[in-house]
Amino acid sequence: MYLTPFQERMLKGEFGWVYAKALEIIVKVGEALGSDRLVEITHAHVSGVSYSNIGEPGLEFLRDFYRERPRFRVYTTINPGCVDYGMLSQVIDNKYFSKQALIDEALVGMGGKPVFTCIPYYHRPPMPGEHLAWGESSAVIFANSYFGARTNREGGPLALASALTGFTYLHGLHSLENRVARVLVELSPLIDNKPLSLAGLWIGENIRDIPVVKIREKPLHEIKALLAAMAASGSHALAVLDGITPRETYKTEIEETITLEPSDVEKYVGELPGLGGTVLGYIGCPHTHPEELVALKRLLEKYREPRRGKLLVTMPPELASTYSPLMKFLLSRKVDIALGTCPVVSVLKKKYDYMLTNSGKAYFYMRKIHGLKAGIAGLKEIVESIYA
Ligand code: F3S
Repeated sequence: MYLTPFQERMLKGEFGWVYAKALEIIVKVGEALGSDRLVEITHAHVSGVSYSNIGEPGLEFLRDFYRERPRFRVYTTINPGCVDYGMLSQVIDNKYFSKQALIDEALVGMGGKPVFTCIPYYHRPPMPGEHLAWGESSAVIFANSYFGARTNREGGPLALASALTGFTYLHGLHSLENRVARVLVELSPLIDNKPLSLAGLWIGENIRDIPVVKIREKPLHEIKALLAAMAASGSHALAVLDGITPRETYKTEIEETITLEPSDVEKYVGELPGLGGTVLGYIGCPHTHPEELVALKRLLEKYREPRRGKLLVTMPPELASTYSPLMKFLLSRKVDIALGTCPVVSVLKKKYDYMLTNSGKAYFYMRKIHGLKAGIAGLKEIVESIYA
């Protein structure tokens, strides 16, 4: 791999072993993938930071680096941890609070922004063509598809290495020639009225190539859910959204057209348990955006409190402080608000029989991680199931 004189000095340890180690990781992975040079990045997003997921080995890895007191060389944001930073949730268990605090101290101490969210674009939306090194599959696919930025799906250690060095290997979605869509997916009118998570789960499971997805005008939270579901059930990191993805950031060579019908996605629509069963309604995977919270508020206005189960909403901590009147309203309706975390990367206080969610990603992981039965529904249906 070609390295600039500055990169050579970093690799030789002139700036300390932490930077040398971080660059070595990037160079080794890049060489294994056939990359011949590095590219500068402007924003790293570090995932794999929940103690509940990475445990003692992950904590030690981070603390080893932090002991040398290095600083991130680029703007760096941090994914959700395993604790509710608002301390109000009755669903999320904060049993690992002190362990998570050690992880957070290391990341913030190195210069990471304590946003604790999987929607880092809420804090800093990237520009088309901008090179990033993001972990968190749902954020990666959103950056590439919605903003036309350039990032591969990085694991936590690689995103951390890029945060420290300011570089990533030039490969994959960093090059225009690899951003070629070959399958056109159209949604039949009947499926277009359903939550886009359903289509996302199907596309992720059944299509390997980069798709062009034709959707009618949709709210942001639906687009976010579509892309996150694709990235969860498949390994997608880019989907061209017809009319949304900036035109100069992809190419198309369509070889196949598929029309999705309701029967294709029926299997993701579950069935609520009988009245004795405990139900968790869940909104906020990826984390909620203000626009989704406003939609939720409208739906909750006519109800006072849940009649069945709980409604959990997860969001970035900063959003809660910026929109405090909205938070007061949600709390008045007994919504369970968890900040800077989510049930996929944390421990739950109790087991539920069933989860109803608008998130294909939560549907995909919650069944595996927490052994829950689950089903996909729209915001309105979720609110009615819990409150009506
Ligand atoms: Fe975010 Fe947790 Fe979903 S990190 S994308 S809310 S699994």
